[in-house]
Amino acid sequence: MALRPYIVGNWKMNGTRATLAEARAIDRAAARHPAVDVALAPPFTLIQAMAEAVQDIGVGGQDCHARANGAFTGDISAAMLLDSGARFTIVGHSERRSLHGEDDAVVRAKAEAAQAAGLSVIVCVGETEAERDSGQAEAVVAGQLDGSLPRGDNAAASLAVAYEPVWAIGTGRVPSVADVGAMHRAVRARLVAVYGEAGAGVRILYGGSVNAANAGELLAADEVSGALVGGASLTAESFSAIIAAAATLAA
Ligand code: 13P
Repeated sequence: MALRPYIVGNWKMNGTRATLAEARAIDRAAARHPAVDVALAPPFTLIQAMAEAVQDIGVGGQDCHARANGAFTGDISAAMLLDSGARFTIVGHSERRSLHGEDDAVVRAKAEAAQAAGLSVIVCVGETEAERDSGQAEAVVAGQLDGSLPRGDNAAASLAVAYEPVWAIGTGRVPSVADVGAMHRAVRARLVAVYGEAGAGVRILYGGSVNAANAGELLAADEVSGALVGGASLTAESFSAIIAAAATLAA
């Protein structure tokens, strides 16, 4: 792995205070692998408590609003995330794009608002099964990147991209290692086209049914600098094995 590995758990709408024990155990596992950057994105309700409970892992949000404050019932701004102890946020997850109608322009606005507030950002992209079957996967992802990436000075410095094929999320199906490598090389090319040399330093995470058994080979694919993990990040047992797999490759 050319860049420092980054293993991020997206807890989605899972977790209550009782689950903080898992976060603590994940924190202890991360401390055993200092060559790997580890982070968790719990629901908003747990960010502050989790940030106070851990030492070696980052804590972040799963989404933020593009505006700093105002009449947006139920929304959370980037400054609020920062205030609660978050240091990064995911934006543009496919579940936000599909279930909340977020398009590329909205995702880009959120990414820029988050960076302006002092958070680093993970921008998610990925094709549907129909798009892959029709040979459009790389074109779709390139279009999402062009529309969703934050612009402006230093945007690349606090950015990661997560490639998450929609059909691989929560399904137990993963692309071949060759297909992951091909897509990640294409993402790298877009990043360099958008940011120049700084684009070479942006970490590209693979996400979609990553687990303890397949993490080693997925993380070894071309231009994969880490993983965005859903279900397998909910317990220390499975997530620690993924962190350990990344540490092996980083060694
Ligand atoms: P799963 O690992 O559960 O497939 O979820 C992936 C994901 O959407 C992470 O953001």
